[in-house]
Amino acid sequence: MKAIEIREKYLKFFERHGHKIIPSAPLIPENDPSVLFTTAGMHPLVPYLLGEKHPEGKRLTDYQKCLRTVDLDEVGDNRHLTFFEMLGNWSLGDYFKEEAVKMSFEFLTKELNIPIEKLSVTCFAGDKDAPRDIETAKCWEEAGLPKEKIYFFGKDNNWWIAGTEGPCGPDTEMFYDTGKPACSEHCDPSCDCGKYVEIWNNVFMEYYKHEDGTYTKLKQQNVDTGLGLERMTMLLQGKETPYDTELFKPIMDELKKLAKSDNINSRRIVAEHLRASMMIIADGGRPSNIDRGYILRRIIRRMTRHLNKLEIDLSKLEILIDLNIENLKNMYPELEEKKETIKQIILEEKDKFTKTLINGEREFNKIATQIMKNNQNTIPGKDIFNLYETYGFPPEVSKELAQEQNLKVDEEEFEKLFKEHQEKSRLGSEQKFKGGLAEQNETTIAYHTATHLLHKALKIVLGDHVAQKGSNITAERLRFDFSHPQKMTKDELKKVEDIVNEQIQRDLLVTCEEMSLEEAKKSGAIGLFENKYGEKVKVYTIGDFSKEICGGPHVSHTAELGKFIIKKEEASSAGVRRIKAILVK
Ligand code: SER
Repeated sequence: MKAIEIREKYLKFFERHGHKIIPSAPLIPENDPSVLFTTAGMHPLVPYLLGEKHPEGKRLTDYQKCLRTVDLDEVGDNRHLTFFEMLGNWSLGDYFKEEAVKMSFEFLTKELNIPIEKLSVTCFAGDKDAPRDIETAKCWEEAGLPKEKIYFFGKDNNWWIAGTEGPCGPDTEMFYDTGKPACSEHCDPSCDCGKYVEIWNNVFMEYYKHEDGTYTKLKQQNVDTGLGLERMTMLLQGKETPYDTELFKPIMDELKKLAKSDNINSRRIVAEHLRASMMIIADGGRPSNIDRGYILRRIIRRMTRHLNKLEIDLSKLEILIDLNIENLKNMYPELEEKKETIKQIILEEKDKFTKTLINGEREFNKIATQIMKNNQNTIPGKDIFNLYETYGFPPEVSKELAQEQNLKVDEEEFEKLFKEHQEKSRLGSEQKFKGGLAEQNETTIAYHTATHLLHKALKIVLGDHVAQKGSNITAERLRFDFSHPQKMTKDELKKVEDIVNEQIQRDLLVTCEEMSLEEAKKSGAIGLFENKYGEKVKVYTIGDFSKEICGGPHVSHTAELGKFIIKKEEASSAGVRRIKAILVK
């Protein structure tokens, strides 16, 4: 059975059982800045699980596009995906355990024709917060599942909540026995040896977990279910991985044909990341250096790197996008509708990254030459890290280049610095989206970054007494007020202009981190240190040139700015000067 048929069967089945089919919400949550992407079918339905009336009624069913990034780095193995589709049915204070279990059982055994011998289920074992779910176990037995196929586990396995606060409850999970031999005499559905694969989850959402860790009962008893479409398709087709199903097979085959140096993990990464980035872009996502834009950027970059690894000419990327759209458009018509945008964004991002690779390699060679001149053979981890932080140059490429030149890399030092950095960015991306990003457009964003470069250049040319006194940006120009006692000379203005343009030409990477004000000060960041920024602040780093506290947003690479020209320097008030400058492409 093909994925699209499973989806159709599912929606029709629940429609016959009184459910209204609702459309998938976009991958990028509407009106919810607290999460980056929709991660489960219940996500867009939270208000209704809490008691609000849904316009379509109390029984709903849909397919939901989801994206989870926790396992991003695992993609390439035989099971992890970032983008996936979840089929779901909901009772919003309508049916509960008995009917939910009955319908699940019927769908699995009658619609999908899964033999009962292949199935086992798990139920909640009970603890201080909620009782043992004997009721659900009974429902399974009554439906026709032998007692010995029903297992009980604790909260780790059989309790579902999105995050740490919100609607939640005990769940019952359904497992498919792949027929592989048991890994030990204790092998059961809680074991991840691969014998048992989870196929569906019914959550009985009747609790709310509060921030302080306590539980209270919700106004209504809900059912929230989720069935992973890719996984089900793979199992029903007797395939080992989702990449062997029709969802990925055409692109996997094409990659194999094109690769000069084949490697199955790289092909999977390209296939998975290409599909995920297309879906994100179709739903309005755009690459940037923060939050969800940064995830998209990372996905496209990782894909590009693995295309390089496969030695596939990057000019082939367009054909691959076409092929993927052709293959997936019956399931996701939005891919066809947004075809041009998808292409433009992925190809542009690929080009930017290629430039990063070229710049980084040039800087790497400078470092390597110096090391060899000094008769040393190990590149310090801090140099590899700086290349990564300043130019976005991937550390694994540095390591590869080092190997080619018979040099070693101090990996331990690098790992340490990298871990610290990752931790900081993780903290950053977990924070809510701050700052009024909505009004920004590309031009004003570029002026924003130019302002940081100008600020630092003024400090270099005039001295450390220069401090920002005001800033104003329109689509036509930037205006920057700063403390300085006298009129700037022509020579000083030229120097400032030259320094800014030099940094633009170096195409420095702009990165963002969140940290406490104290940490920001310690890191040497300049900017307005007033309390109005609140506890955590964002620090934008432009290569090795500038570090400044700021709400953002900024361009990702300084070369995006074009040419910087100072138009005017004049007095603003006593001891404060004002510069107006423009950017031309
Ligand atoms: N919310 C549950 C899950 O994501 C069931 O849909 O598994």
